[in-house]
Amino acid sequence: MAEQLIPVEELNEEQARAELERLSAAIAHHDALYHGEDKPEVSDADYDALKRRNDAIEERFPGLVRTDSPSQRVGAAPAGIFSQVTHARPMLSLDNTFSDEDVRDFVNSVYRFLGQLPDGSIAFTAEPKIDGLSMSLRYENRKLVTGATRGDGTTGENVTANIRTIGEIPDTLPDDAPDVVEVRGEVYMAKSDFMALNAQMEADGKQTYVNPRNTAAGSLRQLDAKVTASRKLKFFAYAWGEMSEMPADTQLGMVKTFERWGFPINPLMSRLSSVEAILDHYHQIGLKRPDLDYDIDGVVYKVDRLDLQQRLGFRSRSPRWATAHKFPAEQAFTTIETIDIQVGRTGALTPVARLTPITVGGVVVTNATLHNADYILGIGNNGERIREEGHDIRIGDTVIVQRAGDVIPQVLDVVLEKRKSDAEPYVFPSKCPVCGSHAVREKNEKTGKLDSVTRCTGGFICKAQAKEHLKHFVSRNAFDIEGLGTKQIDFFFDSEDPAITVRTAPDIFTLRERQEATSLTKLENIEGFGRVSVRKLFDAIDARRSIALNRFIYALGIRHVGETTAKLLARSYGSYAAFEEGMKQAGSLHGEAWNELNAIDGIGEVVATAIVEFFKEERNRDVIHRLLEKVTPEDAEAPQASDSPVAGKTVVFTGSLEKFTRDEAKARAESLGAKVSGSVSKKTDILVAGPGAGSKLSKAQELGIQTMDEDEWLALIAP
Ligand code: IVH
Repeated sequence: MAEQLIPVEELNEEQARAELERLSAAIAHHDALYHGEDKPEVSDADYDALKRRNDAIEERFPGLVRTDSPSQRVGAAPAGIFSQVTHARPMLSLDNTFSDEDVRDFVNSVYRFLGQLPDGSIAFTAEPKIDGLSMSLRYENRKLVTGATRGDGTTGENVTANIRTIGEIPDTLPDDAPDVVEVRGEVYMAKSDFMALNAQMEADGKQTYVNPRNTAAGSLRQLDAKVTASRKLKFFAYAWGEMSEMPADTQLGMVKTFERWGFPINPLMSRLSSVEAILDHYHQIGLKRPDLDYDIDGVVYKVDRLDLQQRLGFRSRSPRWATAHKFPAEQAFTTIETIDIQVGRTGALTPVARLTPITVGGVVVTNATLHNADYILGIGNNGERIREEGHDIRIGDTVIVQRAGDVIPQVLDVVLEKRKSDAEPYVFPSKCPVCGSHAVREKNEKTGKLDSVTRCTGGFICKAQAKEHLKHFVSRNAFDIEGLGTKQIDFFFDSEDPAITVRTAPDIFTLRERQEATSLTKLENIEGFGRVSVRKLFDAIDARRSIALNRFIYALGIRHVGETTAKLLARSYGSYAAFEEGMKQAGSLHGEAWNELNAIDGIGEVVATAIVEFFKEERNRDVIHRLLEKVTPEDAEAPQASDSPVAGKTVVFTGSLEKFTRDEAKARAESLGAKVSGSVSKKTDILVAGPGAGSKLSKAQELGIQTMDEDEWLALIAP
């Protein structure tokens, strides 16, 4: 065939474009044969010639490089790192439910949010929750262009080359598919393939893999797509991201469309209306679970109608219209060899049982949490006796260990008959095992009861707390610095060398400077680092010198300020300067600024107090200011729907609403970029007052705030 080809130098643009298209398809075809069926049609030399021609044409016509070009596939990523992909729509997670009661609550909450009586008129889909890794597959003009992992939900890793080796994932979509399609679903490894792989590993005298899920994850993160190809991964489609057109208006309709486009869908998906039918389906799937050739860890329920899904919307990380009903946790017996105390970021002392290793639901467990001092004694959170007769837990005891999904395994119960006669009750320490400071249980001011947590009072002098602060700071939803994980923080923190040590967050950002001051110890000469990894680490650190405000606030590690609260704060204050100023004033005045903080829907007094206390501590302000010399928190994103007349406005709802439930009204306003507050202040822009409005309405009138009824509000926000 080579004779008929036009030499690269003689191609015109149109011919070059056609050639690149042909080459891309041909190479993909040979790749699939090579990886998938092990039956190549062409020699390696011919295959290489195709690739060289592709490269040469691309070099002459750089503007014509296709997104699905072979040059963009295998080996395109630098060793060890995949490029990042920002998801066009965030990849969310699901709320969990554990009992029939929880499921009833979920169904009722859907009706309540929509302001309907729970009359069985809303249909739900129910399908297995696959225990694999979620994946977003983007098709442009019906061609697969990107396969991305979930990552933190906003950005994931570009694993396109590896995804192309999965035979079950179509490379192209039929002609009637929309121009932009993102199909989402789960990549998994079949149990049978996992067992065959392990049998092979064993035969080769190599270490075996732990479970199909981790093996699937590891297989996808291979830089050499051939390794991925050898692992026989599979896929189920169950969701979507960006779609230039919606091919259906129900969940089931969408998934059936994916099936028609060539994606595998799970055969156990059903559409049901009554809670009884839903629960029955759950039990049926549970019965089939041992016979399925893939791991599942629950059943997912989703509101079927997409218009209702849209009205229900999202909480910060999960949709209101879906939930995962988990299967009961797996349990096993083992013994406690010893009990260690871990000191957390906020000083909490957590007892951890070191166990004789045991396999629980396919995973080897060596540690399990004992929660707190009371739990060891047999006392629950409300002072009630837990475990039969409330017996305590002792070192040497035979215990039941439970593992549920991603949750830390816990010691559930004791087998008293097996207790050794000389076993002594465990004495919970009254001093921090790391810094020696007193460890105390705080008294809850309101209830007068002792807090269940024993806390080290050492604060900053406690190395364990300082270290945990750092680990939190670099963690995935905070600064997320690649190459700076738990192990590295341990190393940097423990180092006494001024060129290396990292004790507080700002030290991370001076590491490069200190390393470049030549006379000092070079990281790259230290075992476990090396030139390339040091350079990558510095690059990863530099990449975070500018960071989203909510991540910055979350990273500070303020007690009670999780991701959701951090987002609320970022949205409400807009900039770091405004936030800190607000917190300072809230601390000294307890007036307007304090009220403003408390008025943020979702922030209560406990959280507000914790934030204000945090900023009162000079040491905290000092660390933050040193950090701000190196890092710039970006101002919080302007509300998305900025063309909406209510974007950026602070709205208060009062009285009873008739067209919407309060929750839906609030969610709707927020989706248009408004802030919803629980109380009226000078900062309020609009008060929506329904019948029965009282003091808030009069206060708003006093302050001259714009007030309107529900219909006026609806007219205002109408699209
Ligand atoms: S739906 C907006 N359906 O579970 C909801 N998720 O905790 C998108 N998963 O990250 C998810 N099977 O990896 C959905 N049938 C299923 C699923 C499923 C497994 C995973 C998925 C997701 C996680 C949520």
